[in-house]
Amino acid sequence: MNHIVLIGFMGCGKSSVGEKLAEYLDLPFIDTDLLIEEQEKMSVNEIFETFGEAAFRKKETETLQKIAGQKERHVIAVGGGLPVQTQNEEILKEMGDIVYLRADTGELVKRLEGDTSRPMLKGGNLLEKIDSLKKVREPIYVKMASFSIDTVDLPFEKIIEKIVEKLF
Ligand code: S3P
Repeated sequence: MNHIVLIGFMGCGKSSVGEKLAEYLDLPFIDTDLLIEEQEKMSVNEIFETFGEAAFRKKETETLQKIAGQKERHVIAVGGGLPVQTQNEEILKEMGDIVYLRADTGELVKRLEGDTSRPMLKGGNLLEKIDSLKKVREPIYVKMASFSIDTVDLPFEKIIEKIVEKLF
């Protein structure tokens, strides 16, 4: 398949970059979290609170399977935990180009401070949480991606330019 899939840690800019990249390439854009929220008529927070993380991960996989079946090329931003679930690995690999949007931990802490929309970061010390999740996830993102783009200190236009340069 021919999709462009953006992966990376919470706060790395997948949704904002994805929306702009889709606009630039004149392709439809999908954000898996938004799609799940629309389908369930609940926020990601509410899904975690009501049904737990495992149920959310199941919905992510179901959503990914549906998107993967679409013939028209899409730009897709997936939740930060999605590529880490082994059941999604094969589906993602078949989907097209996978782009890892990288940001360092200090920058992520700045961006995610005060955020209440992400259940995985609730409670405890934000830096420690990000650090320990990132240690596990980053090698998986890198392994899975066709290429990585550093997003720190880059305006959206530059990030888009870099992605397009690598893709075409
Ligand atoms: C998650 C990331 C979130 C969302 C959910 C779980 C994660 O998406 O899917 O809160 O485990 O990293 P974003 O990466 O878009 O914030």
